[in-house]
Amino acid sequence: MKITIIGTGYVGLVTGACLAEVGHEVFCLDVDQRKIDILNNGGIPIHEPGLDQVVARNRAAGRLQFSTDIAASVAHGDVQFIAVGTPPDEDGSADLQYVVAAARNIGRHMTGYKVIVDKSTVPVGTAGKVAAAIANELKSRAVDIGFSVTSNPEFLKEGAAVKDFMEPDRIVIGHESDAEGLQAQAVMREVYASFEAAGRKIYWMDVRSAEFTKYAANAMLATRISFMNELANLADKVGVDIEAVRQGIGSDPRIGPSFLLAGCGYGGSCFPKDVQALSRTAQEYGHDLRILAAVEEVNELQKQVLGKKVHARFGTNLQGKRFALWGLAFKPDTDDMRAASSRVLINELLRAGARIAAYDPVAIEEAKRVLALDFADAPQLIEQIEFASDHMAALPGADALIIVTEWKLFREADVAQVRDQMNAAIIFDGRNLYEPAKLKALGIEYHAIGRAILTQNES
Ligand code: NAD
Ligand code: UDX
Repeated sequence: MKITIIGTGYVGLVTGACLAEVGHEVFCLDVDQRKIDILNNGGIPIHEPGLDQVVARNRAAGRLQFSTDIAASVAHGDVQFIAVGTPPDEDGSADLQYVVAAARNIGRHMTGYKVIVDKSTVPVGTAGKVAAAIANELKSRAVDIGFSVTSNPEFLKEGAAVKDFMEPDRIVIGHESDAEGLQAQAVMREVYASFEAAGRKIYWMDVRSAEFTKYAANAMLATRISFMNELANLADKVGVDIEAVRQGIGSDPRIGPSFLLAGCGYGGSCFPKDVQALSRTAQEYGHDLRILAAVEEVNELQKQVLGKKVHARFGTNLQGKRFALWGLAFKPDTDDMRAASSRVLINELLRAGARIAAYDPVAIEEAKRVLALDFADAPQLIEQIEFASDHMAALPGADALIIVTEWKLFREADVAQVRDQMNAAIIFDGRNLYEPAKLKALGIEYHAIGRAILTQNES
C-alpha cells in the first residue's frame, strides 16, 4: 500500500519505518528541513535503539523516502497518517494547530479518495475538526472528493519504540460507521494485515472512544506511578520498604507488576501533557477529574524530592559543594529531555550555589540545549555544570552522587569503586537501583525513595 506519514518525529519516523518494514511504500513528510536532510544523508535525528537499521534497510529497498514536498506527500499516500506534535497550550489543552495545518494541506492537494489517520494523541472530537478542515479546503476548491478520518492512537514507549510498534500489545482503531467509514475500516485492516496475521489484536471502535483510549491509558499509568510515589513517601515515614510492598502487591494479577516503581517522578513528552489535556477535556465538559489533578500535583512534588533530600543532608546553602549527577534524560535509552526530573534537580542545585559534574550516555547534547533555555535568566549558572566523558569521570571530588535516570550502566556500576572515587561516600538514588544492605556493608550512606527503613541508620 502507499502510505504517507505527516510529521517525521518520534512517532512519525518509527511508524513510517515500521510500516515500510512490513512491505508498504512509505513517504515521510516533515516541515523541518534539518530533519529531512539528516535522514536523506543516512542519519537519524533521534536516539532510538534499532531504528537506524530499520530506516537504512527500507531506504535501500526503496520503500521509505523523506521529503518536505507537501504536494508530493499528499499525492503519494492513499492513507495519510497525521503524526505531528500536539504540545500543551497555555491552559493545558492539546494545541491542535499542527494537526489542523496537516489536514488543510491534505484538503488543498488531494485529487482522489483518502483515508486520514489521526496517529497523534488528540482530544475527543479532533477527528471531526480534521474532517472539517479538509472539507473546507475541498469546498474552496469547489471539488467533491470522498475521504474518511480514522483514529489510530500510538502506544509505543521511547527507548523501545521499534519493538513496541512491531510487536504491539494491541492496535486501537476508531472509524465511522457510515459507508465511507466502513471503507476506511477495510483500508486500515489492510495497513495492519501483517500484524493481524501475526496474531496481534486489533480493537475496532468508534472514533471518539479510540481518541479517549489513548488518554485513558496514559492517565492510568501516570496514576499508578504517582500513587506508588505517594506510598513511597509515606513508607519513609512509617518505616516500610516500598520495594517489598511493590513485590507484595504486583504479584496480584489484578494489579500486575508493571509501572509500580517509585522514583523521582515521571517525565517525557507524553504523561505530563496527556494528564493535563485529559483534565482540560474534563473541565470543558464541566466534570472535575479530581484524581488527575492529584496525580499531576504529586508528580511535580516528586520531582523535587531529590533536591529536598540533598538540602536535608547538606543545608540550604550549597556553595562549595560538588555533586556527581548520573542521568539527564527522562528515562533510559533516549536523549529526550522533555519534562525530565533532572531539570528540576539541576535548577535547584545550581540556584543553591552547588557545582555539578553530570553524565548521561546519550542526552548530554540535548541537555546542553534545554538547560540554556531553563537558565535563560541566569546564564552564568550554567558554567557551574560540567559534563563528564563517562559515568566514573563525574565522581572525583564529589560530595555525593545523585542518580536521576535508571540507565542499566548505572545499575551495574561497581559501587565500591564509585565510593572510592568520591570525596564522601554518599549516594542519593532517585530510581532505587541498589540493594541498601550491600551499600551499608560498603560503608556508603544511601538515600533512596521509600526505603528509609533499610537506609536510615547510615545517615
Ligand atoms: P515530535 O515533536 O518528535 O515530532 C513531530 C514532527 O511533526 C516534527 O518533526 C515537526 O517538525 C513535524 N510537523 C509539525 N507540523 C507539521 C506539518 N504541518 N507537516 C509536516 N510535519 C509537521 O513529536 P512526537 O513525539 O513524534 O509526537 C507526535 C504525536 O504522537 C504527539 O501527539 C504525541 O503525543 C504522540 N505520541 C508520542 C509518543 C512518544 O513517545 N513520543 C508516543 C505516543 C504518542
Ligand atoms: C509513555 C507510555 O508508556 C507510552 O505507552 C505512550 O505511548 C507514551 O508515553 P514514555 O513516555 O516513552 O511512554 O516512557 P515510559 O516508559 O512510560 O516512562 C515515562 C516516565 O515514567 C519515565 O520518566 C519513567 O522513569 C517513569 N516511570 C515509569 C516511573 O517513574 N515508574 C515506573 O514504574 C515506570
